Amino acid sequence: MDYHVTSLTVEQTREWGKQLGARLQGGDVVALIGDLGAGKTAFAQGVGEGLGVTSPMTSPTFTLIHEYIAQLKGTQLRLIHMDLYRLQRPEEAEVIGVEDAFVENAVCLIEWPEIAEDYLPDDRLEVEIIGSGEQAREIIFRAPNCTWESRLKDMI
Ligand SMILES: Nc1ncnc2c1ncn2[C@@H]1O[C@H](COP(=O)(O)OP(=O)(O)OP(=O)(O)O)[C@@H](O)[C@H]1O
Ligand SMILES: [Mg+2]
Repeated sequence: MDYHVTSLTVEQTREWGKQLGARLQGGDVVALIGDLGAGKTAFAQGVGEGLGVTSPMTSPTFTLIHEYIAQLKGTQLRLIHMDLYRLQRPEEAEVIGVEDAFVENAVCLIEWPEIAEDYLPDDRLEVEIIGSGEQAREIIFRAPNCTWESRLKDMI
């Protein structure tokens, strides 16, 4: 099932990220879909907030992968934030170690996941943000199977 919400400001987009972040757990993979400037990084920053990341999260556009220390019920968890916009070919996902992020002690957020689709786990949450510039955003939470259902219901 898809869940649709509206965000009128960047703060609201961050807040939706925070709400999701508070419900994530190790092993979760979240694909962030949307045009340039849609708000994927803003949403990811909110996820970091919801997961207790204290260092500032910046866009991994040039570095491709950033990693942070998150907190989950008092234990540490890795938060891995990727931006695959600059990849030219799917195989490069393998070279940069995208799959190394799909482990039980990490939550993984991926901006521009399309090129690496074949390397992503099927059981991932997709968050699509529609709109850009000063437009309102529609945020769609889409999960392939029921493992996400109760968390999404709880959030929305
Ligand atoms: N409702 C909104 N939600 C999110 N961002 C918004 C909203 N309204 C305006 N903005 C602005 O849109 C921009 C979103 O930038 P952001 O870097 O998060 O996009 P992005 O999807 O990560 O882009 P890129 O593909 O370049 O990585 C910010 O400048 C933000 O202030
Ligand atoms: Mg971004």
